[in-house]
Amino acid sequence: MARPKVYITREIPRAGIDLLRQAADVEVNTEDRPVTREELFERIADCQGVIGLLTERIDAAFFDAAPGLKGYANYAVGFDNIDVPEATRRKLPVSNTPDVLTNATAECAWALLLAVARRVVESDAVMRSGDWPGWGPMQFIGGDVSGKTLGIVGAGRIGTAMARMSRGFDMPVLYTSSSGRRNAVLDAELNARLVPFEELLEQSDFISLHTPLTPSTRHLFGAEAFRRMKRTAYLVNTARGPVIDEQALLAALRAGEIAGAGLDVYEHEPALTPGLAELTNVVLLPHIGSGTASARTDMSVLAARNLLAMLEGKKPETCLNP
Ligand code: DGY
Repeated sequence: MARPKVYITREIPRAGIDLLRQAADVEVNTEDRPVTREELFERIADCQGVIGLLTERIDAAFFDAAPGLKGYANYAVGFDNIDVPEATRRKLPVSNTPDVLTNATAECAWALLLAVARRVVESDAVMRSGDWPGWGPMQFIGGDVSGKTLGIVGAGRIGTAMARMSRGFDMPVLYTSSSGRRNAVLDAELNARLVPFEELLEQSDFISLHTPLTPSTRHLFGAEAFRRMKRTAYLVNTARGPVIDEQALLAALRAGEIAGAGLDVYEHEPALTPGLAELTNVVLLPHIGSGTASARTDMSVLAARNLLAMLEGKKPETCLNP
């Protein structure tokens, strides 16, 4: 029997590619840029399986372009790039990569939280400039972290990990839940409180976003949310950029309505809202939440295992279809 053909839209760690190559003919886009829609459709025309990224839109046109497709594996936990109902209507399985990147992403949120509160990037820039005049009692005074209130928006896997990592800082934890369900781990281990969104905005000193991007979370953080936040509060986003209205964030940062923001994701990736990069009270990362060697390797293996199952007509381990 002919081996199935698989296309991977960008180079990913070898482990997953090697696993797939045991059973399939695999082509990888080795250019260091996302494939264009035209290139993608040309490449997948005779493929049975595809591994893609959050930069690809997996929609009706994608499925039409690959009539022999048996399944699609997302190399990401977030799946707002996939039209899951459309895949389900076509009886096509689609999968994501949860769990394996949970700690890496929570650690990245902590890196942003500490960096923006303690002005790490600004301070680093002064050292590199050669202009540091020596220790000064009024230099680079930042915000306290220990004992401050941490607000988690979206207490799923990554939000829970972020909150658990706060134990060393003795932070009271508040969280919201779109389902209204309590998080048993956070309640038991951290005595955390499930609160209405408005209360979280008003009480938190740090707010960390871990909610998926859905129609109801798009622009959840807009002008009204920033007005409600403490002027001394910081916002951290390692989830999805469009959860924040970036123009409103820019205005809030400029007006001093909030103290600062640490961002790993952007509303219009890869573009930055003009003006954001000029502010000193923001720390900006290039969407590297899952960027540790083990998380990215484990993502490649999980995506490969998912796709191999789909090629055999089986349900993938982390299937997104209901
Ligand atoms: C994800 O997995 O959704 C991240 O954004 C990329 O790793």
